[in-house]
This record gives sequence, C-alpha cells and structure tokens, in this order.
Amino acid sequence: MKRDFLHVTDFSTDEILETFALAREVKEKFRRREHYQPLAGQTMAMIFAKPSARTRISFETGFFRLGGHALYLGPQDISLGTREAVKDIARVIARYNDVIMARVFAHDHVLKLAHYASVPVVNGLTDYNHPCQIMADMFTILEHRGHLDDLKVVYVGDGNNIVHSWLRMAQRLPIHFVCACPERYQPDAETVALAREAGFSAIEISHDPVTAVKGADIVYTDVWASMGQKEEAEQRKIDFRGFQVDDQLMEATGKDSLFMHCLPVERGIETTDSVVESHASIVFDQAENRMHAQNGILLKLLHKS
Ligand code: CP
Ligand code: NVA
Repeated sequence: MKRDFLHVTDFSTDEILETFALAREVKEKFRRREHYQPLAGQTMAMIFAKPSARTRISFETGFFRLGGHALYLGPQDISLGTREAVKDIARVIARYNDVIMARVFAHDHVLKLAHYASVPVVNGLTDYNHPCQIMADMFTILEHRGHLDDLKVVYVGDGNNIVHSWLRMAQRLPIHFVCACPERYQPDAETVALAREAGFSAIEISHDPVTAVKGADIVYTDVWASMGQKEEAEQRKIDFRGFQVDDQLMEATGKDSLFMHCLPVERGIETTDSVVESHASIVFDQAENRMHAQNGILLKLLHKS
C-alpha cells in the first residue's frame, strides 16, 4: 500500500518522531559528506502551481543528494485542472516517476493527485496547509531545545495554511498552541476543533498578541497576505495593525523566546528587520531543515528505512 504525506496527521506520533530521527541521521551524513544514496535510480516529479524558493530548492537538492533525480514542472508545464484534469496527470506522472511532490492552490488537487496516483504524493503547500514546513519547524525546535516538553508556541498573524499545519501537529504532539490573529482572520474552525478534540494540546485563539505571547518558547509569524491573496495586501496591512512581531512584542514574552518564520519574510510588515536579524531568530535553521525533514519523509514513504 502506498502512503502519502498530505497532512501532518497522515503520520502517527511515532512516525513523526521516527522522521525527526531520520532527518537528524541524514543531516549528519550530509555534514560528513558521506556517500549515502538510498534513492539511486529513483525520480520525483515536482508540480508547482505557485512560486517557491525553499520548497523547490530543498526538495530538488535533497532528492539529488539521496541519489535520485527530481524534475521541476512549473505552472506553464502542467496547468493543473485547466490544460489537463488532475486525475489524468496523476496517473500519467505515476507511470514515469516514483514519487510526486505538489504545490498547488486548491487542497482538493493534492487529495485528487493522491487518490489517482499509484505512487506517494507529498504536499508542498496548498491554500489549506503546509505540512513539510511544520515538520521542519518542529525538528528545528527539537534541535534547539533538545526536547519537546512543555512547549508553548505562539503564532501571531493570519490564521492561514501554516496555522492549520500547526494545529494538525498539535493532534500528534502535545503543544500549548496560541494563534493570535485579528477576528476576521481566524483559522479553519473544524481544524481547531480537531486539535482540541485530540485532547493533549492546549489550543487558544486570541486577538491580543501582547497577552498571547507571555511565556512563549516560540514566537512564530508568516506573511499577512499569502500566495493567491497578494491583491488584498494593502487592506490586510490595515486589518493586521498591532500584530507585527517587533522587538517589543518579543520582549513581552518575558522569556528567552525563539523567533520563527517560514519565509519568505516581508520585513517591516509582519515583522521587523531587527527581529529577523536578532539572536532569537532561527529562521535560517528552519529553512535548512526543510531539506532534512523532507528527506526523512521521503525515506519513510519510499520504504528506505
Ligand atoms: N517556506 C516556503 O515554503 O518557502 P517557499 O515558498 O520559498 O518554497
Ligand atoms: N502562508 C504563506 C506561506 C509561504 C511559505 C503562503 O501560502 O504564501
């Protein structure tokens, strides 16, 4: 039976922890420049309907370093759902490649790809979620703290795809997760409910960032206007007033908190240059760990571990 990775919850708690262990192992091998090519002869098709730096570079580089070959297919190559039906391209690609990675607009497109493809499908971001990002983020937190106990993560900003993946992570690992967002920009209610129902994570939705960040181990933010929403950027700057992560907000945690951002960052909008460049900032560790966490995921899906 092939496995997909479309949501953090597609993996059990044990599988998530095993993925982190694998990520650490492969990261070490890469550091030592060890010859390690378990995916030799394999190919991965990468479908991009949206722009990307990290996702493309980390998947392509990571797959290559594991011995495989990755193909970049941009919006002009495959116009998902317009030039060709998702269910058709899924079956065509699966005849050529061992695994598919897709970054698309509609979440339904990755669900359909996974349903029709006979090979594993990995979600590289949809309008709904970004599971590889949060796997890399949690792995980064583990590296920095040495453990994941008593973890308070406060996300400040738009209740978007990043938040949905945090909420899914909270269904698998215990987190005190707070989303501080303007009232009109709350995360999906059903995803919030699922995270609460899982029973071991404390989930809060707040509209007051200063109170929310108190005691935070991690302060996390993301752009206010995601891909596909850029025409709303000016309105959102007004709607998100008071939600910028600046030095004062970092101080309001009352703790040596770490700052995280999935990148790309819009300095001066959702956060400041000063915070991104501060000692608290671990944004480039996060970016690096995209590759290692994804390699862990790919090795699990391709039965190499
Ligand atoms: N964080 C992230 O997914 O970055 P890209 O959009 O550049 O891939
Ligand atoms: N929320 C952002 C994340 C980018 C990695 C977006 O969807 O554009």
